[in-house]
This record gives sequence, C-alpha cells and structure tokens, in this order.
Amino acid sequence: MDVLDALNSRFTCRAFKRDPINGEILLKIIENATRSPSWANTQPWELYIAGGDVLESIRKCYMDSFRGDVPTDPDIPFMSEWPAQHQERMKELGIKLYKHLGISKGDREAINASWKLNFKLFGAPIVIYLCMHETLSEWSMFDLGSLSQSIMLAAQEYGIDSAPAVNLVAYPKIIRKAIEIPDELSIVIGIALGYKDNDSPQNTFISSRMPLDEVVHLNGI
Ligand SMILES: Cc1cc2nc3c(=O)[nH]c(=O)nc-3n(C[C@H](O)[C@H](O)[C@H](O)COP(=O)(O)O)c2cc1C
Repeated sequence: MDVLDALNSRFTCRAFKRDPINGEILLKIIENATRSPSWANTQPWELYIAGGDVLESIRKCYMDSFRGDVPTDPDIPFMSEWPAQHQERMKELGIKLYKHLGISKGDREAINASWKLNFKLFGAPIVIYLCMHETLSEWSMFDLGSLSQSIMLAAQEYGIDSAPAVNLVAYPKIIRKAIEIPDELSIVIGIALGYKDNDSPQNTFISSRMPLDEVVHLNGI
C-alpha cells in the first residue's frame, strides 16, 4: 500500500469483528513500526500485547467497571481543561459523530451505548499497550506517538484496522492484574487492532481536519 493511501484510509475503528489477527503478521507490523525515530535512538517504548483469554478477562473487568461507574485512574492523568479552540474541536467531533450515528442530543441511552464501546475495547481481538519508564519526559511521549502512528499505518498494509484510545488504559490496575507490567512503567496508550465490522455505522464516520491555512504558517515559501 502506498504511504499516502495508508495515511488517508486509516481511521479510528470503533467496532471490530472478532476475527483473530495472525501472530506472524502482528509481529511484522510491530517490527516495521519500530523503525520509527526516537530521541538519540533511545527507543523508549515497551509493548505489552493482549489477545485471547487475557484480553477477554480485561474486557470483562472493563465492562464491570464501566457498569459500576468506577472512576478512571490512568497512569498518565487525562487532561480536564483544554484551551478553548481545542475544546471546541472536541465538541465538534462529538456533535458530528452522534449526528452521523443518528443519535439526538438528549438521547442519554444511545450516547451511553456508543461510549460503552470504548470499555468493550471496541470488540477488538488484540490490544497493544504502549508503555514507557515513568521517569521519562514528554520527549519520549513524542516517540511513543510516532511509534503509534507507525503501528497503525503498518497495520493498514495488512488490511488491519486500528483504534488508538486513552480509554483502553483508563483502568491500569485491571491491565496489571491480567498482564505482568513492571510498576516503573507507565501504561501510556492502548491501540486496538483487528478487522473492521462493515455493518457498524461507527466505521463509516470520517473525522474532519482544520483547513491548512488555519494551522500551517508559511514563511518565505
Ligand atoms: C492519544 C489519543 C487518544 C484517543 N483516545 C480515544 C478514546 O479514548 N476513545 C475513542 O473513541 N477515540 C480515541 N481517540 C481517537 C480520536 O478521537 C481520533 O483519532 C480523532 O477523532 C480523529 O479521527 P480519526 O482517527 O478517525 O482520523 C484517541 C486518539 C489519540 C491520538
């Protein structure tokens, strides 16, 4: 697949089929993705991958926590206050996604059902948990971001869809109960992988982007 095709066809898949991913392909995706750049080649990432029974146990506990309204407790705290323009873009995403799904503003039940998909781990057969040492800085977080996109683009090459999601790491205690992850590693982000469910309207939503002239500032060009 052409790189530009991969960039343009990737989207956040919020409903996967349960079809498993071949283990060899999964490792090929990771191997290629780790060609990502990092600060002085520090390669600050550690990847913990869950599938099969291990992921099912995480999924069950996530659903229980969601139903029980258990407060989230991510290793990297979620940001509560965003600058106005970013808050506005988040709001716009919600409005457009719910409109696409045919969910009206006050329909708490339908909104809840859509939100619940996060805690169902989007039904994915695989989740990659990207971790880094807790003492590392934003620079290493930058490297993990770079690796994340590489994983998702490499997955596209194999016809595998993806969803990067903070909600996948909202309950690190549950993840640590199922997988041995050293305490000194922060569980930064989860990437769900699998094959998209073509019947789900979640997967026909295409998010918008800012016009270039609002975010690109050309100088001397
Ligand atoms: C760091 C990060 C965290 C995200 N967390 C979530 C999440 O918890 N739940 C979710 O549904 N999408 C999550 N997303 C997906 C974004 O909402 C999505 O990337 C954005 O709306 C653009 O849409 P696209 O990925 O389909 O192009 C996350 C994306 C990133 C990069």
